[in-house]
Amino acid sequence: MGDARRVGILISGRGSNMRALVEKAEGYEVVLIASNKPEAGGLEWARSRKLATWGTDSKGLGKEKFDRELSATLDDHGVGTVALAGFMRILSPWFVEQWRGRIVNIHPSLLPKYRGLDTHARAIAAGDTAGGCSVHLVTEELDAGEVLGQIEVPIAPEDTAQSLEQRVLAAEHLLYPRVLGEFVNR
Ligand code: GRF
Repeated sequence: MGDARRVGILISGRGSNMRALVEKAEGYEVVLIASNKPEAGGLEWARSRKLATWGTDSKGLGKEKFDRELSATLDDHGVGTVALAGFMRILSPWFVEQWRGRIVNIHPSLLPKYRGLDTHARAIAAGDTAGGCSVHLVTEELDAGEVLGQIEVPIAPEDTAQSLEQRVLAAEHLLYPRVLGEFVNR
């Protein structure tokens, strides 16, 4: 089992949280960026920073085959903690079992509210006065693992899902590096 402070980040897209985790790394080291989308913008950035990357299209591979290759790659790099950052793929029960207690995710709501997608629109539609973001442990159930840290972001009457998303994203970039640093050194 790898040292908990050796972090592998999984992305599917632009990777702004991945960048925050790399740039504000304190108490941990990012040793691999992996993606199920070889064309993910975040991989390009990671390569430009000379970070180790792995991009394999999950389409076509069976779910568990992809997850087994991913897990082996994480092991090869001595990863001890897996940080999901906009990873838009449900991990198989096999992977979750393999990495139990060592996978964290960032979610753009104040969990347990609004698991899943469209969190900001749902918070506004409900008339909530605050939204926010949560870092949580990953289990088999979507966005349902133990919450490790949150930041609350006030919702203004004129907010749209887009304006709220921008402010919550800025909060995510503060929250995730801090909580990950605490988690791997707990
Ligand atoms: C973020 O809103 C994160 O909370 C959610 O997916 C989005 C990823 O954005 N899980 P980025 O790729 O980190 O910019």
